[in-house]
Amino acid sequence: MVGKRHIKEHLMKKIYFLLFSSLTIFAGEVPLASPNLAPTHPGSQLYKEEMIEAIPFWNKFGELFVYVQTHYTKPLFLAILIGVPLAFAFHYFVWGPKKFSHKGRKFLIFPKWQRIVHWIAALGFIFLVPTGFLIIYAKYFGGGEPIRFARTIHDIGAILFAIAFIPMMLMWFKDMLPKSWDLKWLGMLGGYLSKEKKEIPAHKFNAGQKMWYWTIFFGGALMLLTGFLLYIQTFDKSLLNVKIFQIDILRIAILTHLALALIIVALFFTHLYMSLFAIKGAVDSMISGCKSEDELKHLHSIFYKDIINKKIDKKLEEGCK
Ligand code: HEM
Repeated sequence: MVGKRHIKEHLMKKIYFLLFSSLTIFAGEVPLASPNLAPTHPGSQLYKEEMIEAIPFWNKFGELFVYVQTHYTKPLFLAILIGVPLAFAFHYFVWGPKKFSHKGRKFLIFPKWQRIVHWIAALGFIFLVPTGFLIIYAKYFGGGEPIRFARTIHDIGAILFAIAFIPMMLMWFKDMLPKSWDLKWLGMLGGYLSKEKKEIPAHKFNAGQKMWYWTIFFGGALMLLTGFLLYIQTFDKSLLNVKIFQIDILRIAILTHLALALIIVALFFTHLYMSLFAIKGAVDSMISGCKSEDELKHLHSIFYKDIINKKIDKKLEEGCK
């Protein structure tokens, strides 16, 4: 009797193991780790008994994870990759870019240290976004070493972003707090659906830039946390004091990372379009730190009036000479 039960248990474990192995091959579309390193990972709870133990709980997050990865991840990221640039190309050809005179007075808006912090974060994103796409579509690029390399670049991007994250959030925190005129800005979509050159209600940052900031404020922190979990893969989960399998922590981390990445990528493309195409010369303010009077007067009308009323215009102008 005992022998029979033993054989049954042994068989069940084997079936579970086979099921899980095929699942990991399936999940190989989104590679988790170098497979040759995994079994020897010291103290890993992912690749030992728990791997078998987690199978009966497959319905908890496993099914959801595979469902989302199979049906949603690739089409949604493709929709963003194609849809957002197409929408902006349409905007560019219908409404065209906003042009401002760069001949008149110029004011120093972003001091050097703020520009450096911004460019570290930007460089991080330049590394993170294309490599993120490469990892998602890994199987179409043949997987293996090139994708592992993309992952290393993704990690370097994450480190650059992590370095800039706290200073960037602190240096712009006050200017990014919501104000009553932000609703007005949103109501007129920042004036971007009009060719008319008029005064737009915004202080140093407009409501669109504030949305981008707050997405990064909360989303960036979560991206760092989930990315870190994906990087280390196993850790002492008793620290969490919740009954959850290690593999489920990773499944939740991936789902969160990717859901946020969708929003971040869409807004990142928007940020690029605004600074490189929609407002001619806007990127210069992040290179030289200066904005022209004409641009400030129209796109940041409340800020411009504030500078004049507080009589700091001469001082800010000095910074651009
Ligand atoms: C603030 C931005 C981001 C940070 C800090 C970040 C960080 C990380 C880190 C550290 C990893 C682990 C890599 C490894 O194990 O070596 C990772 C994985 C990943 N990231 Fe990001 N990332 C960010 C943005 C993005 C974006 C924009 C995308 C998509 C375009 C993306 C897609 C992915 C994917 C697909 C994985 C692999 C998930 C898996 O293991 O299946 N990430 N990320």
